[in-house]
Amino acid sequence: MAIGSLAGRIALVTGAGSGIGRATCAALSREGASIIAADKVGKNAKLTIQSLKGDVAQNISVEVDVKDSSSIQRMFGELKKCFPKPPSIIVNSAGITRDAFLLKMEESHFDDVINVNLKGTFLIIQAAAQALIDANTSHGASIVNIASIVGVHGNIGQANYSASKAGVEALTKTAAKELSKFGIRCNAVVPGFIESPMTDAVPVKVKEMVQAQIMVGRFGKPEEIAEVITFLASSRSSYINGTCIEVTGGCRL
Ligand SMILES: NC(=O)c1ccc[n+]([C@@H]2O[C@H](COP(=O)([O-])OP(=O)(O)OC[C@H]3O[C@@H](n4cnc5c(N)ncnc54)[C@H](O)[C@@H]3O)[C@@H](O)[C@H]2O)c1
Repeated sequence: MAIGSLAGRIALVTGAGSGIGRATCAALSREGASIIAADKVGKNAKLTIQSLKGDVAQNISVEVDVKDSSSIQRMFGELKKCFPKPPSIIVNSAGITRDAFLLKMEESHFDDVINVNLKGTFLIIQAAAQALIDANTSHGASIVNIASIVGVHGNIGQANYSASKAGVEALTKTAAKELSKFGIRCNAVVPGFIESPMTDAVPVKVKEMVQAQIMVGRFGKPEEIAEVITFLASSRSSYINGTCIEVTGGCRL
């Protein structure tokens, strides 16, 4: 993508303190967007902002809990004071896992994962779209959600997580249908297995088994997901809407 293709755009990235969210901030910033790095762990969001190269004057970090609508309202209130218009790129990368076999899974761990991954994505979409519509700046905006290949096929030990990510795909398609009349596109990236703190905890033996199912023969890098997110965020993908793009290295799960 040409350098500067996102000049003048403001991008809100949740889960920006780590992994795919942090790599997305770097890619969007490289293309000229101002970055709002939002994360539950404020100090990690700050580190993301500090790691950005180039003119960083327009970038800020903010602490937010995406499962909490009042925290989101507070964040949008703060953003109003910092920027002349609402973000027109929204990337929902905040996510958690709480893995266990279905028969052993605690109800609270099912709720936690649905609340962050699915409800959190819904709450951010709702607040961001409303802010854009209120400011009359919605045309050309792009929302990018992060689903997962295990939401497509299911995965042992991830009843909560796979269900949350299948939900993100359906939410994406519905949001696109409802928001297109305001000029807002909504798509999802569907990553396979990506090297990040989220997958660091996976035992080596399991990683080797998974890797054998990936045509490219390795886990992906956060940057490889960030590139697709950046494309979906830009007007170069102006005719892509309501879709979920698999970025898995050819995963045969
Ligand atoms: N790593 C993978 O293999 C993989 C594969 C498919 C999809 N994904 C998805 O990609 C996204 C990013 O994953 P990652 O690998 O970068 O994980 P990560 O653990 O490195 O980063 C997730 C970030 O989300 C933040 N977060 C968690 N709960 C939050 C909350 N309630 N409010 C705000 N921020 C919160 C965390 O603090 C962390 O900084 C997630 O949605 C994940 O489910 C990851």
